[in-house]
Amino acid sequence: MKGIVFTEFLEMVESQLGMEMADRIITAAALPNDGAYTAVGTYDHAELVRLVVALSEATGTPAASLVRGFGVYLFQRFSQIYPGFFTSASGSFEFLGHIENHIHVEVRKLYPEAELPTFFCERPAPDQLSLLYSSPRGFADLAEGLIQGCIAHFSESIALSRVDLADDGAEQRVQFHLVQQPR
Ligand code: HEM
Repeated sequence: MKGIVFTEFLEMVESQLGMEMADRIITAAALPNDGAYTAVGTYDHAELVRLVVALSEATGTPAASLVRGFGVYLFQRFSQIYPGFFTSASGSFEFLGHIENHIHVEVRKLYPEAELPTFFCERPAPDQLSLLYSSPRGFADLAEGLIQGCIAHFSESIALSRVDLADDGAEQRVQFHLVQQPR
């Protein structure tokens, strides 16, 4: 997993819970590089899971909610770091429909070794979008937070639900449903 995900995670912990907590979870996670990540480096995604587990143990917050919270934070950071991806979409349906064929394609050009999930997108009705997440890394909670962050970014009123289809260790598949709410 790209270092930017690690540096953003540790910056979130530092800004929300302080430097001591960041140092504490780095020590507890017993990382090979003592938490020295660079944004362009590539690291084992299991190290992020270890940091999340350490933060969960230190705070008592379930790991899944921490990862979702990180997704919300990360989306807002992406809008600052990669403003170019945000110029063409007028709302979250349009933006989320672009991840697979545009955004993550550009991410792969920037970072050829990136390990990206697959999203299959459908529009069952004009006010609905469904997004099928699949990845061997099992970061559907991160995807959920990123989707929530996307909805918040566009200040939309959209109900988000998920159906967990499979998580057998080899691949996680989760179907997300988004329904626009009347204002
Ligand atoms: C400007 C928008 C976005 C950018 C720049 C971006 C970029 C990235 C980058 C750099 C990674 C790390 C790849 C690696 O570690 O090797 C990543 C992974 C990921 N992205 Fe995106 N992304 C964006 C939007 C989204 C959105 C909206 C979603 C959710 C619907 C999403 C879902 C994910 C997930 C879940 C992963 C973790 C890897 C996995 O699950 O296998 N991304 N993305």
